[in-house]
Amino acid sequence: MYILAIDTSCDDTSAAVSQDAHVLSNIISSQVELHSEFGGVMPDVARREHKARIDEVIQKALKQAGVTIEQIDVFAVTKGPGLAIALGVGIDKAKELAIEYSKPIIGVNHMEGHIYSNFVEPSRTEEIAFPLLALLVSGGHTELVLMKDHGQYQLLGQKLDDAAGEAFDKVARMLGLGYPGGAVLAQMAEEGDENAYKLPVPLTLQKGLDFSFSGLKTAVVRLVSEITSQGARSLTKKEVQDIAASFQRVTVKHLVNQTMRAVEQTGVQQVLLGGGVSANLALRKELRSALKAVNSKLYFPINPKLCMDNAAMIAEVAYYKAMKNEFNDVSSVERAPGLRIA
Ligand code: KG4
Ligand code: ZN
Repeated sequence: MYILAIDTSCDDTSAAVSQDAHVLSNIISSQVELHSEFGGVMPDVARREHKARIDEVIQKALKQAGVTIEQIDVFAVTKGPGLAIALGVGIDKAKELAIEYSKPIIGVNHMEGHIYSNFVEPSRTEEIAFPLLALLVSGGHTELVLMKDHGQYQLLGQKLDDAAGEAFDKVARMLGLGYPGGAVLAQMAEEGDENAYKLPVPLTLQKGLDFSFSGLKTAVVRLVSEITSQGARSLTKKEVQDIAASFQRVTVKHLVNQTMRAVEQTGVQQVLLGGGVSANLALRKELRSALKAVNSKLYFPINPKLCMDNAAMIAEVAYYKAMKNEFNDVSSVERAPGLRIA
């Protein structure tokens, strides 16, 4: 079974081709440079660029896979969550192709995709066993999900305010590191002293498995204002590095705390990381060592391309859905910007 998958949920135009669970190509055309000028993703610009790029991205995915469009058995597309008018471009294209070639279509949840980015590598599929916990950390979402089997999700915890990636991006902007600044902030943090500034670890006194980053973000605003005498001077490079490291330490601590609570409560011993922030090396390191201490294991996407938004992960979800005959009517695949995972 050949699957062609499309993701246009945010600012990356992506198409992938897979044969069963095996991904043959994964093309991503990033618009990040266009949006960084605005300091955030501009939906109108994203839609225009998806429209301009989608055909070429699909052609490249087919070519790299060595598969023709006529050979495709199933079309898969992200239906949400994401930016409505961006999602619409991918959905319209997938529907158009499904109708033209009389093939079935599968609408996929983008966050399910981030979980399944861990299954793209064939060796992983054999290694990862259920039940498992997924910690999803992206620009728009922070979620802890219990998965008892393929396609079975229970949402255990979620963001109460900002998402983890959003917090990285907002603090990065405060530090003058541009947008999206998560990866740049992480780089600066490597050179900094993580104990230079004391910042509050969120939700340590409350029970529960939710996430909150807005208090921490406010604490960083205050800290920057104090250091610079209310903006009378700029931060030095050393101060930026130290703030980045101190912020990252506390952010990672919060993510690890909630995940370890979930491990304790559920007894589940395998954890998957997914979403853009899963590329963060400090998070991987701290979470791995906390899990190791209780004989549990951490998985994250092997290829860095699979941490970011991509269509290979959508193809992977679609494969498992197709195996269960979970196809959709073309008319029922509609954009769902606020789609939930469970
Ligand atoms: O999953 P993703 O590519 O897009 C969404 O679906 O949101 O996640 C993007 C987010 C951005 O907030 C970006 O700053 C963050 O992931 N990010 C990182 C790192 N790389 C990307 N955050 C922290 N450390 C990184 N190394
Ligand atoms: Zn994403």
